[in-house]
Parts: sequence; structure tokens; C-alpha cells
Amino acid sequence: MHKFNIVIFSGAGLSAESGIPTFRDSGGLWEQHRIEDVASPEGWKRDPLLVLNFYGMRFQKQKECQPNPAHLAIARLSERHSVVNITQNIDTLLERAGCTDVWHLHGRIDLQKCEEHHSLAFPSSYDSFTCDHRSRIDRPIALGDLCPKCGGQLRPDIVWFGEPVDMREAELERLVRNADVFIGVGTSAQVYPAAGMLSIFRNTPERYFVDPHPNYDVLQGFHVKQGSASVELPKIVAALLSE
Ligand code: APR
Repeated sequence: MHKFNIVIFSGAGLSAESGIPTFRDSGGLWEQHRIEDVASPEGWKRDPLLVLNFYGMRFQKQKECQPNPAHLAIARLSERHSVVNITQNIDTLLERAGCTDVWHLHGRIDLQKCEEHHSLAFPSSYDSFTCDHRSRIDRPIALGDLCPKCGGQLRPDIVWFGEPVDMREAELERLVRNADVFIGVGTSAQVYPAAGMLSIFRNTPERYFVDPHPNYDVLQGFHVKQGSASVELPKIVAALLSE
């Protein structure tokens, strides 16, 4: 039985049916909050409490949500094939569905780091932190929560607009070389460098994209499945598991 190398690149649409709001759909997060106020270093300096409340609300929200059939299908696929998830999402629904190799390009909602060391690149695996100024959270971060190492105010371990994204070039290079299948799911593909994944994997033999409103401008050569992740992804997974 051939073991495929599969890369799944996901955005907020993957978790939409779990109840986690997307950003740019109507009613999305960027309709309710200004990015510069809640997701930028300038906003953090101006009003850290507003930022902590924004991420505290998202932390509590994702705790109430469960993986949906799309997350579970990806976990099933990774039992048989080599699956790497490269996600823009900060929720941990893929991990809770049973996925192990998950790259969070924009960070994770359940991690905190101190503002003195926030520029440190993400650890290659969240279990072996590259620095001990990072830690898991089990409640929203509050003003006055200080780094035990250096006394800096703790902040969400999230990549804000204007901060560097760790694209893990060396590992990405290896993934591109070996990928048999690339699946894009639930992303408007508007935020770079993450959205560059669609062209980075443009030569992967089999490419799929799942979204109810696909951005066809960036999808040349993809098998586009217009629909929701929890309906369309299990179909793709079933086909890959039957090959
Ligand atoms: N199934 C699949 N896709 C869906 C579903 C669903 N049920 N519901 C919505 N979508 C699609 C939308 O059609 C859209 O293409 O999910 C995408 C959501 O797009 P955005 O809200 O822009 O989210 P995303 O692409 O993840 O944003 C990228 O922008 O603001 C930053 O850091 C933030 O990581 C985020 C990045």
C-alpha cells in the first residue's frame, strides 16, 4: 500500500463549522474589530487590555468548540499517509482531532510568550520549546501575568500583522520536493507570506482546494471542490484512502 506525502494548507474556513468565526466572511472577526487595534504590535502598545480581551474571548470560544468532520477526516488520513498540516489557524482543533504534525504559521491560542522575547522564531515542535519564555495557558492571559524568566508582560503567542512569520524554509523545501498531494481548505488566500503556499506547491502532482467561495484567481490547476470543509474534505479523504 503506497504511503502518500500529503500537505494540507488550511485557513479559518476549516474551523468555521466548529463554530469558530472566520475573519473576512460577513459577520467575521474583522467586521467586529479593527486589525490595528487587536492584532498589531502598535495596538498592543496602545491598549494591551483590549488585545488581551480579544484573544481571551477567542481562547474561551475555541475551548467550547469541537473538531468537525473535516478535522476528523484529516486525522483519519494521517493514520495511513504522511500528512503535514500547515495552518493559519490558531485553534488546536486539528490536534484535538488526533493530528500530530501541525505547523501553526500564525501561532497558537493556547500559548503565551513574553513581550521581551516575542520575536523568537516558533519552535519546530510546540512540545520542545526553543526558548523557555513560552508556556501553555489554561486561562486567558491577564495584565500583570509576567514571564517567570524575565518579568516581561506575557502576551499571546500569535503572529500579529507586521511581525515575522516563521515559514521554516528548509523544512518547507523538503516538503515541496516530496509532496504527492496538496489540499488547500478554507482560506481566502489574501494574507502573505502564508497564502504563498498555493504557489509554492504549484507543481505538486495532485492539488485540491475546498471552499464555498473559492478564489479562482489563485487556483490554476487545482481540483476545486466548491462547498464546505466538513462535506467536501471527507470525500477527498475517502478517495485518497481508497487508492
Ligand atoms: N468550509 C470551508 N471554507 C469556508 C467555510 C466552510 N464551512 N466557511 C467559510 N469558508 C471560507 C471562506 O469562503 C473564505 O475563503 O474560509 C475562508 C475564510 O477566509 P478568511 O476569513 O480570510 O480567513 P483566512 O484565509 O484563514 O485568513 C488568513 O488572515 O487575518 C489573518 O491571521 C489571520 O490567519 C488569518 C489570515
